Amino acid sequence: MSFVVAIDGPAGSGKGTITKLVGEKLGLINIDTGATFRSVTLAMLNEKIDINEEERIKKLLENIHIDLKQENGTQVVLLNGEDVTLKIRSNEVNSFVSPVSTLKIVRDNLLNLQRKMAEGKNVIMEGRDIGTTVFPNANVKIYLDATPEERARRRVKQNIEQGIDCSYEEVLASVKKRDKIDSEREIAPLKQADDAIYIDSSNMTIDEVVETICKIIKEKV
Ligand code: DC
Repeated sequence: MSFVVAIDGPAGSGKGTITKLVGEKLGLINIDTGATFRSVTLAMLNEKIDINEEERIKKLLENIHIDLKQENGTQVVLLNGEDVTLKIRSNEVNSFVSPVSTLKIVRDNLLNLQRKMAEGKNVIMEGRDIGTTVFPNANVKIYLDATPEERARRRVKQNIEQGIDCSYEEVLASVKKRDKIDSEREIAPLKQADDAIYIDSSNMTIDEVVETICKIIKEKV
């Protein structure tokens, strides 16, 4: 038996930060499914595999091993044993991951992996299709949203803090582009599950969102 909290929403809605904090507060294992798509994307870039090369992608997926580990409260991502936690956040991966995650062969493979990762555990899993596809019977489903403008502002702030140079206009355009690919793809698009609770975090602090979600979860335990 496992208890599953599904957190879905677009890039920059605060899912990563919120999921980690809620998980820590309530003792749930945090699973970031975006990291699994990012790992496959990195492996394809490393091997110089194009998204049209189905046979090579199939072979790659057969031989790939992705592991998410919790170390001192942070998630470490291992790709074939190598720590790729930082590499999967590169600009190159950022711009290639949405197209890669439209591929059926990739989604089928990662769907199995994501379900296995939660087996027998109490988890809070974040992504785009957790409540609709990965765990349609999740105990709690949240759809966390924010306006594209607010999400772009947050990303710019984060970039500045990390010393990454960028313009608001550029970031906003890339946020909108990713939203479009993620929500218009054929398989398991980004979409609110019918029974998910909608939270717009545009005008909420992180603490307020964490409190709101913890309260919802506690009511379901
Ligand atoms: O959450 P993120 O930005 O790390 O996700 C990276 C990409 O992975 C995102 O553009 C779409 C894809 N993704 C997905 O299709 N399904 C998920 N459950 C999680 C991520």
